[in-house]
Amino acid sequence: MELESVLHFLENKTILVTGATGFLAKVFVEKILRCQPNIKKLYLLLRATDTESVSHRLHHEVFGKKLFKIQRDKWGEKFSSFLSEKVVAVAGDVSLHNFGIKDQILIEEMLEEIDIIVHSAATTRLDERFDVAMDTNTMGAYNAINFAKMCHKIEFFLQVSTAYVCGEAKGQIPEKPFLMGQTLKSSSELDINLEKQLIKKKLSELQSQNANQETITSIMKEFGTIRANLHGWPNTYVFTKAMGEMVVTNMKGNIPLIITRPTVIIGTLSEPFPGWIEDVRTIDYVFVEYFKGAITSFVGNPKITADLGSRLKRIMNMYRPYLHFEGIFDDKNTEKLRMAIKGVGSVERKFNLDPKSIDWKEYLVNVHFPGLLKYSMQPKM
Ligand SMILES: NC(=O)c1ccc[n+]([C@@H]2O[C@H](COP(=O)([O-])OP(=O)(O)OC[C@H]3O[C@@H](n4cnc5c(N)ncnc54)[C@H](OP(=O)(O)O)[C@@H]3O)[C@@H](O)[C@H]2O)c1
Repeated sequence: MELESVLHFLENKTILVTGATGFLAKVFVEKILRCQPNIKKLYLLLRATDTESVSHRLHHEVFGKKLFKIQRDKWGEKFSSFLSEKVVAVAGDVSLHNFGIKDQILIEEMLEEIDIIVHSAATTRLDERFDVAMDTNTMGAYNAINFAKMCHKIEFFLQVSTAYVCGEAKGQIPEKPFLMGQTLKSSSELDINLEKQLIKKKLSELQSQNANQETITSIMKEFGTIRANLHGWPNTYVFTKAMGEMVVTNMKGNIPLIITRPTVIIGTLSEPFPGWIEDVRTIDYVFVEYFKGAITSFVGNPKITADLGSRLKRIMNMYRPYLHFEGIFDDKNTEKLRMAIKGVGSVERKFNLDPKSIDWKEYLVNVHFPGLLKYSMQPKM
């Protein structure tokens, strides 16, 4: 496999990316535009109410970010026209059929042109309200694969999932797709439609009691955790992401499907420059509290008692399944891909997949932590 063949594959392709204001999708979009500027078109789905707000979000929350500095420098004053030629911002919501896109002509164009769908949109809050997480992570996947099935020449659908759909598994964790209705507890049965009905019922109960928004949020959060735990998942996020996987696997028909399951994504290693990250997320909460001096040591053993302020306790509790995770992810598929590009210098450099090639201490101390301080803890860049 030559670098040229990867780039050749992308040449003249049209890709729909959901979750384009998000951290991961932005890095993906930057890489595509930098490595293959001859992409035909990128449809970027952004939550917005109208064309004005979608354009505002596109320019401020995507291309206005420092992440695109190398691109801006390369194109100079032509950057705007390059973007106008290659990028179409689409106002949409993954929780709705056809992403809630109202413009029928636009839908027809998208169905005609799209070659690849990268479905990255999600709510990544571990304790999200059950109704919101179901609509976004499970029904979002449903709506995205449905849209893919209507595309005239789709080549593949990429579902961005999470490695932690495995719950709190121990030992080696194989890369197996979920079967519809599969749970992590042999004693439970999962029916996604029933979960949706339960959500509806709970919401109408709360409405009939005239519950205020704060109460509804708190109860729906708790309800998600209860349902997730019942089926063996530690939180609503991974439960609804697992159901999202079930849905796309079950509905894909003839569409080639890739499910990618990242563990924890942190700052850029080297491209487009080292250390770029957005917001404080996942394990970085702990690092940030350490930088601030709120914690001076890190709890890694359940037998140790931690004397922590309540916000930290909540964070520690939420991340407990990950801090004490004892599973080992099987990475045969990634390894196969790595072997396929081994020795092809240009591909290995541009699409490096080998975690062993990273000096992790050097990366954390000299790249990630400074990046975190510079990009996540300063006013938004
Ligand atoms: N970050 C990690 O460490 C990590 C690890 C494993 C897996 N993942 C997966 O990677 C993907 C991207 O994660 P991320 O870290 O980039 O998340 P993120 O920064 O929180 O971005 C999430 C994106 O999804 C969009 N979104 C949420 N609800 C939506 C809706 N109803 N309709 C349309 N768009 C919606 C958000 O739009 P708004 O801006 O409008 O909110 C945002 O653009 C997710 O699928 C996540 O599960 C992430």
